[in-house]
Amino acid sequence: MKKVIIIGAGLAGCYLAMLLQKNCQVTLVTKGARQDSNSMLAQGGIAAALDPGDSPAAHEQDTLKAGQYHNQALAVEQLVHVGPELVQQLIAMGMNFDRKPTGDLDFGLEGAHSHHRILHANGDQTGAALTTFVQRQLAYVTWLTNTAAIELYTNKGVCQGVLVRDIESGQQRILTADAIVLATGGLGNLYDFTTNNETITGDGLVLAARQKVALKDMAFVQFHPTVLALNNRCYGLITEAIRGSGAILVDEHQTPIMADTPQKDLAPRDVVARRLKLWQQNGHQLFLDITNVSDFTHRFAGVCANLDKHHVPFRKTHLIPIQPGAHFMMGGIQTDLSAQTSLSRLFAVGEVACNGVHGANRLASNSLLDCLVSAQKAAMAIMTLTNLPLANFKYSPTLFVTPKLPTLAVLQKKAWHYLGIERTRIELRTFLIWLKQYNFLQLQPSQLSQKELTIANLCYCAQLIAEAALAEPKSIGAHYLKEEITHESSHH
Ligand code: SIN
Repeated sequence: MKKVIIIGAGLAGCYLAMLLQKNCQVTLVTKGARQDSNSMLAQGGIAAALDPGDSPAAHEQDTLKAGQYHNQALAVEQLVHVGPELVQQLIAMGMNFDRKPTGDLDFGLEGAHSHHRILHANGDQTGAALTTFVQRQLAYVTWLTNTAAIELYTNKGVCQGVLVRDIESGQQRILTADAIVLATGGLGNLYDFTTNNETITGDGLVLAARQKVALKDMAFVQFHPTVLALNNRCYGLITEAIRGSGAILVDEHQTPIMADTPQKDLAPRDVVARRLKLWQQNGHQLFLDITNVSDFTHRFAGVCANLDKHHVPFRKTHLIPIQPGAHFMMGGIQTDLSAQTSLSRLFAVGEVACNGVHGANRLASNSLLDCLVSAQKAAMAIMTLTNLPLANFKYSPTLFVTPKLPTLAVLQKKAWHYLGIERTRIELRTFLIWLKQYNFLQLQPSQLSQKELTIANLCYCAQLIAEAALAEPKSIGAHYLKEEITHESSHH
């Protein structure tokens, strides 16, 4: 039986494990507990053109338009056609999406979609319902929780091993396999304002980058317009589906913020996030006004519970204080349509991968769908691999060193400033010079404590974003270069 190691236990990793478990010996490695993933936090839903009045062609157009046509067209085509089939298979297996009183699926609306096509479960707890459903199907999988992946090992140009660390004991060992799959999610915790689970720290990207595996589109980080913001701290996502149900963005005078733009509050996320930043810079406070949302407390019970937990008086004011926050990495490890990376037998699925489907700005609720589609394609490719002898890698324990690194808080603040919603070339260069002093590329991952490794990995991710942003010829989608005040222009 083929041995497969999957690193990451979000929807993509678990769905792939489910598809492979009867034919392969699957080990699922995850840094946290089984529920620590961004998939578990996904609220709005999963987009699928299943409504009789909808079509994959319309979904394809919306995805391309939101992505500023920077997308890989074939990846989009694959997503919109294969995705609905996989969703239907899950429904047939017993996955419950919310339905109308008539029994028909209840499709929600989100930004930049031309049709109501967002399936949701338990109101606004779609990711948790779907990921838990898939995890419950995992009968033949070996779980390694609280286990971090530290370094990949190759043999004659083929990826065959990964050094893992038991986080509690600090013990490290090499696991070997016929295929290794990275499903570690993005890098949201590079920023202090983020919707991401705290375990999401760019680990998979760095594992691949250290092996010189090709990356793609690293300039494109998506900022979600609505994150619950209290005293300048972030307390989780406020789903876009609320705007899809009639909520609008307003300032402290209840002046609508998006009213003069063509798609208003349901414009693509990059457009809304930039507008919010502008209002914030002009000294305004930002709110989501839910006055016109019917059945709010029932349809968005998860959000309500979070608001109540933080004593937000939304029941009286109908206002939720928000700010934009780092949400999703459109770029990542470059893959083909079968999730194969540039390194033989190393695959990447879900957010850590970049098959180009999202272009320069991901369409809302396309990420859970891509988790299913990329995992299904990876499963098919892994199933057809021929047997190769596995290398016998040796790991000799080394002493831990104490490196010079910035604190996580300092790195996050810098990233927010320099690699955020708006950038300038001058500032990107300034940031790279600051980062250079830390020499993190010279450090041996196996010699770092888990905390230091996390910071070193995020430094590496920051460098990759800054370099990619400098290489982008112009603003597009989520990569936005604001006008620079140059020496010359300041004289005019
Ligand atoms: C949301 O519910 O607003 C997030 C969904 C997504 O990122 O696609």
